[in-house]
Amino acid sequence: MELLKQKILDEGTALSDTVLKVDHFLNHQIDPSLMKEIGTAFKEYFDDRGITKILTLESSGIAPAVMTGLELGVPVIFARKRQSLTLNEGLLTADVFSYTKNESNTIAIAEKFISPEDEVLIIDDFLANGEAAKGLLELVEQTEASVAGIGIVIEKAFQEGGEVLRTAGYDVHSLARIASLAEGEITFMSGVEV
Ligand code: G4P
Ligand code: NA
Ligand code: NA
Repeated sequence: MELLKQKILDEGTALSDTVLKVDHFLNHQIDPSLMKEIGTAFKEYFDDRGITKILTLESSGIAPAVMTGLELGVPVIFARKRQSLTLNEGLLTADVFSYTKNESNTIAIAEKFISPEDEVLIIDDFLANGEAAKGLLELVEQTEASVAGIGIVIEKAFQEGGEVLRTAGYDVHSLARIASLAEGEITFMSGVEV
């Protein structure tokens, strides 16, 4: 997605060889018109898959997921990382290990929002080692629903998540794939978009 790549080049910062800062439009301040375009791009790719629900993870997955839900006309569920005052019965949980924080966190959804008949599209802001996506897949598995695909805003293609998920047979569609962040320079994967 050209608009997204240009935004990453203009406003993103390679904080290190592995971390991209995009707080101008995705992780802190949010650019609504870019999010709308992201929703359109995911709709174009995942249209005609019979998707009935979108599942994401709070907090940065919510904006792109909601715009995609608006385009596809389906509800969006965000898995929670913290316990909720009102949400405490009928929970499904999964553990997500974070390499950057070197800790495991429990994520949860209420089981009533996804049923075995659902076709679920998973959306997230970043794909690095794939731990968050694996946690979301584990939640869907417990509901016995099907996974229609995985939509990622920014994939760090030099980390293993994308390969692991594609090898496992999932249709992973990333709107921008970063080849390298070395020496403060952001470079994208060349060739055909997957
Ligand atoms: P993993 O899921 O692939 O294993 O990655 P990791 O545990 O390292 O990611 C932890 C958090 O950092 C996640 O957000 C993830 O989206 C984000 N993240 C991973 N790599 C990058 C990166 O290069 N740049 C940015 N900006 N974020 C990255 P989170 O803690 O769940 O935060 P949020 O969703 O509340 O924003
Ligand atoms: Na994040
Ligand atoms: Na995230």
